[in-house]
Amino acid sequence: MSIDKQAMRAELMADAGYVHLNSAGASLMPRCVLQTQLDYLQLEARVGGYEAERQQQQRLDAVYDSVARLINCQASEVALVENATVGWMMAFYAIPFEAGDRILTVEAEYASNYLAYLQIARQKGVIVDTIPSTADGEASLDALRGMIDERVKLISVTHIPTNGGLVNPIEEIGAIAREHGILYLVDACQSAGQLPLDVARIGCDMLSATGRKYLRGPRGSGFLYVSKRILDDLHPPMIDMLAAEWIEVDRYRLRPDARRFENWENNYAARLGLGRAIDYALETGIDSISAEVLRLADQLREGLAEIPGVTVYDIGRHRCGIVTFASNSVAAVEIESRLRENDVHVSVTTPAGTLIDATRRQLPEMVRASVHCFNQQSEIERCLGLVREIAAG
Ligand SMILES: Cc1ncc(COP(=O)(O)O)c(C=O)c1O
Repeated sequence: MSIDKQAMRAELMADAGYVHLNSAGASLMPRCVLQTQLDYLQLEARVGGYEAERQQQQRLDAVYDSVARLINCQASEVALVENATVGWMMAFYAIPFEAGDRILTVEAEYASNYLAYLQIARQKGVIVDTIPSTADGEASLDALRGMIDERVKLISVTHIPTNGGLVNPIEEIGAIAREHGILYLVDACQSAGQLPLDVARIGCDMLSATGRKYLRGPRGSGFLYVSKRILDDLHPPMIDMLAAEWIEVDRYRLRPDARRFENWENNYAARLGLGRAIDYALETGIDSISAEVLRLADQLREGLAEIPGVTVYDIGRHRCGIVTFASNSVAAVEIESRLRENDVHVSVTTPAGTLIDATRRQLPEMVRASVHCFNQQSEIERCLGLVREIAAG
């Protein structure tokens, strides 16, 4: 099934002539996602927050089902959280690490995740090791197999890094994790909404994602998947009266489901918006979204590679909608600002976001143009024309 671009464009609310190539930062919500939130906020204003929640309980519960359909799990394995970082951190800090345990991660690991590894390494004497990449740039499965020993407690992998088009082989890594009975955490922040995600195929124990990027949901929304296989082994790093029940003066009981990683107060409008965004993506078809994103991204990469003085930095056998490049004469921030003056919106990615990968590949500050399926060929051409002019000086 191919994308009905006209229908998709009709759901966009961008100003005429506005070109959004920043879906890896925060994408553009479809009209239906905005409307869902507005309706809920209006209800809250009319009847009050608690009353609105009670009236809309079924729809709010259905958001868990939407996430479950998106990633092929059970609703009881889903926690709805404020963003990908909160989801990831709640899972990571719940792992009972001991001195000498090893964490294996990828070269293009996201800064916030790596900082958490460093903190646990400092606090508990855990060892952090990076799986070397293949010549193509993705995490090497052979290298990973060679690194496994009885001390490996966690394999923790970013699916699509923040700094480029790479797609890591999360299913193959999952097969290795399963074979050895090692906990497996996947950061799907940049892939949710642009690539199919099936936790049964991935074989992960935990997976985190955000709402505002490729899912096109609201800011301040995200989710965490925790498999029922391991739920009882994980004690959330923080608990409140939603996560646990206070049953005796000196005793509590954790919730039996993944909502033990949530807390009590929430932005319910954003939650409903996230649910609507997921349903919209599923109605459109993740495979169709994926194919269109790749088609447009490849077109952008090919065009950029032909511009004198411009280097495209994306690596990996499989690529995605994130396109990164730099010019040998104009700084990335300057390119970003000149594009913005012309209503083409991209972002800049800095080495500190993925320090190991950036150091190994000696990456400069790069322009990050991230396409979504609502983008049009004419927008890609407009961006290419402007970069050509800017790079020519
Ligand atoms: C790979 C990756 N993981 C995690 C995050 C954090 O997501 P959030 O800002 O929703 O917490 C980002 C944000 O850009 C990211 O690119």
